[in-house]
Amino acid sequence: MTAFAHRHLLAIEPLAAEDLTTLLDLGERFLEIAERPIKKVPTLRGKTVINLFLEPSTRTRTSFEIAAKRLSADAINISGSASSTVKGETLLDTARNLDAMSPDVVVVRHAQAGAAEMLATRIKAAVVNAGDGAHEHPTQALLDCSTIRAHKGRIEGLTVVICGDIRHSRVARSDIWALTKLGARVRIAAPRTLLAPGLEEMGAGRVSVHERLEPALEGADVVMMLRIQKERIGGALFPNTREYSRYYGLNARRLAMAKPDAIVMHPGPLNRGIEIDPSVADGPRAVILDQVSRGVAMRMAVLYLLAGGEAGASE
Ligand code: NCD
Repeated sequence: MTAFAHRHLLAIEPLAAEDLTTLLDLGERFLEIAERPIKKVPTLRGKTVINLFLEPSTRTRTSFEIAAKRLSADAINISGSASSTVKGETLLDTARNLDAMSPDVVVVRHAQAGAAEMLATRIKAAVVNAGDGAHEHPTQALLDCSTIRAHKGRIEGLTVVICGDIRHSRVARSDIWALTKLGARVRIAAPRTLLAPGLEEMGAGRVSVHERLEPALEGADVVMMLRIQKERIGGALFPNTREYSRYYGLNARRLAMAKPDAIVMHPGPLNRGIEIDPSVADGPRAVILDQVSRGVAMRMAVLYLLAGGEAGASE
């Protein structure tokens, strides 16, 4: 049995490098299931996974659902507009009612930072954080690390640029923790208004902050672009999207400043023409759809470990 001594997956911050490697290794064993004519193993037969998504999601929600189904778990999906939270029920009441139906895992996405952690202390099921406000999105970091490992052969010693709306990005936070724990250097690039305090302290001296994209790109192995999180921005934090893309958009000219074999990543959804030029997003260096494919396998690993699947995972 694989050693993973956590009951929930709430964040990357508290995990050890060995935990990350365990999850990545196991997830990569699940990748081949997507290539089979019958994409299903009986591993989690009889287990129940509830996906409680109280914020919009295409990739993450579908990915968790497919992951659960490929492992033969029963997957139930509840989205914000279809749940009783619109009738005024609190998240905790909703979750307690769902918990009374004995699910094994509850996957939760919520606009409030700390939502998943709060549920983990109050319900019996294992809880997976599928994104809590601007705090963390741990399975995104796993799929990002797996993608980097696959294309670069390692993570240790690489230079990864993360550019965009860092201040509101749970993806950036989870990736900074994961990448630095695994020995990469992270260069954050963003206008001052979209930076967050304390970034340099997050990664044991491996994080640097740049207010311009171009110097950060020099010699980079990986360039990860993030969306402006319009739904989380209260006031005007940058002049307009045209101006933003002029200074912080990734185009072919800027990408040429990174290493010749640098890969381009994006968690989606893309805002084409703002943070990334279509020619780069669709170009040969982009691994954006590989990120999505790996997401299913990484979520299979998480569900497998938390729902207590049997040994012999990928048979
Ligand atoms: C991200 C999210 O929701 O945090 N998307 C995702 O899960 N792939 C990033 C975003 O919304 O920009």
